[in-house]
Amino acid sequence: MGGIMPHHSLLLFLAILVHWPWRGLVQEVKWPRHTVCSMDKLQIFYQSCDPLQDIGLSVSPCPETLRTTRIETKLKVTLLLWQSIEDLYMSVNLFPEGGGTFHFDESLCLPDYPRFTFCNRKKGELIAVDTQLKLNILKYLPNHINAHAVLVNQNGYRIACFNMTLMTA
Ligand SMILES: *[C@@H]1O[C@H](CO)[C@@H](O)[C@H](O)[C@H]1NC(C)=O
Repeated sequence: MGGIMPHHSLLLFLAILVHWPWRGLVQEVKWPRHTVCSMDKLQIFYQSCDPLQDIGLSVSPCPETLRTTRIETKLKVTLLLWQSIEDLYMSVNLFPEGGGTFHFDESLCLPDYPRFTFCNRKKGELIAVDTQLKLNILKYLPNHINAHAVLVNQNGYRIACFNMTLMTA
């Protein structure tokens, strides 16, 4: 009878030991929350949700506001490739304040239609994209938007994952 408790404790202890690194390193990795823009009327933050790596995103100059019809700026993306990207598909979900979800899919790289210079890059390469960004802003824009983006390659491997918060006044 007396031997049961220590045995249980040992099992529990081992279970925690086995569980701990798994939880800490693989499942619950939290990358830091990065600031893209911190203006009076525009704040943009993002966070990587890829268990393997953080991602670099920056915009310069930061627009003063999104309450305008057209924005021109430069976008910089830095990312290490864990897989090649002959094809690259982006899937985005937008969650505007007040409810609803908007979903859109975009093919960024296709074998016959490589839209960007980073298309066809190989596993192990570091991508550093510096591109002009031109946006036409919708008339109706909620003050607060959460976005979730996932990029996958031709084999369905996740190349990048990040979520973003946009707050505009
Ligand atoms: C990203 O998503 C996580 C989990 O839902 C959330 O805690 C975090 O605040 C989000 N970060 C940004 C910058 O939106």
